[in-house]
Amino acid sequence: MSRAIAVIGGTGPAGMGLALRWARAGEPIIIGSRDATRAEQAAEAIRQQVGESAQVSGMENAAACAATDLLVLTVPFEGQATLLKQLKTAIRPGSIVIDATVPLAASVGGRASRTLGVWQGSAAQQTAELVPKGVSVVAAFQNVSAEVLNGDEDVECDVIVCGDDPQAIEITMDLAAKIPRTRAIDGGKLENARIVEQITALLIGLNVRHKGHSGVRITGLPESAYKSAGEFPKTGR
Ligand SMILES: NC(=O)c1ccc[n+]([C@@H]2O[C@H](COP(=O)([O-])OP(=O)(O)OC[C@H]3O[C@@H](n4cnc5c(N)ncnc54)[C@H](OP(=O)(O)O)[C@@H]3O)[C@@H](O)[C@H]2O)c1
Repeated sequence: MSRAIAVIGGTGPAGMGLALRWARAGEPIIIGSRDATRAEQAAEAIRQQVGESAQVSGMENAAACAATDLLVLTVPFEGQATLLKQLKTAIRPGSIVIDATVPLAASVGGRASRTLGVWQGSAAQQTAELVPKGVSVVAAFQNVSAEVLNGDEDVECDVIVCGDDPQAIEITMDLAAKIPRTRAIDGGKLENARIVEQITALLIGLNVRHKGHSGVRITGLPESAYKSAGEFPKTGR
């Protein structure tokens, strides 16, 4: 059996959507929340959607961190630093933290179509500064719409995965490829998360302007650059 994926802040739309897709793919999931009851309710909602085969449980965030070494962080930017400080002793040495946080200006009452400057360069680099030594941080899934993830349609989106640990990048790419029609691309060092996070603000603006749920596709790379579960016709690149 593969190791469980703990989704910290997994009661929100982004975390629920990812958890739903991975549960459908047969991955064991732990929904994390500041409140264990809320986590269990979210886990039950996913079990209802996926069916009896779903391996989904709910726990308070610290317990979720202690239960596995594969974590996905889906909390609003305004709560990210405080939460990571609280979880520091719970995060197991050698864990991988996949950060989907976008530092939207909405966090401080501004527009969701703008981002905040983050001293460390990006929300993901802030996470890297706050996790215990030996924990690998990867930035991914910031450009995938929660609306789409929570639906039944395929997710027509590329996931740009940035990080400084090749093994953690590989594991994250494998997870992205479990979402139907999603392709993972190695986006290079964690510092590139700054650029990927900015794209989300643009996508939110496009969604408002054109009333949709936009995502990104990177074209023109060799076949070997893309990791996906299914076949993509040449015209789809
Ligand atoms: N929504 C999207 O389409 C989307 C797409 C890509 C990336 N993202 C990013 O993913 C993250 C989560 O997005 P979301 O829309 O799911 O956000 P959200 O609903 O605002 O928050 C997700 C969960 O985080 C927990 N939380 C809220 N405030 C917190 C705080 N101050 N401290 C600790 N935990 C807190 C809550 O869970 P509990 O109350 O149960 O603890 C909440 O259900 C954000 O950084 C967002 O930028 C979102």
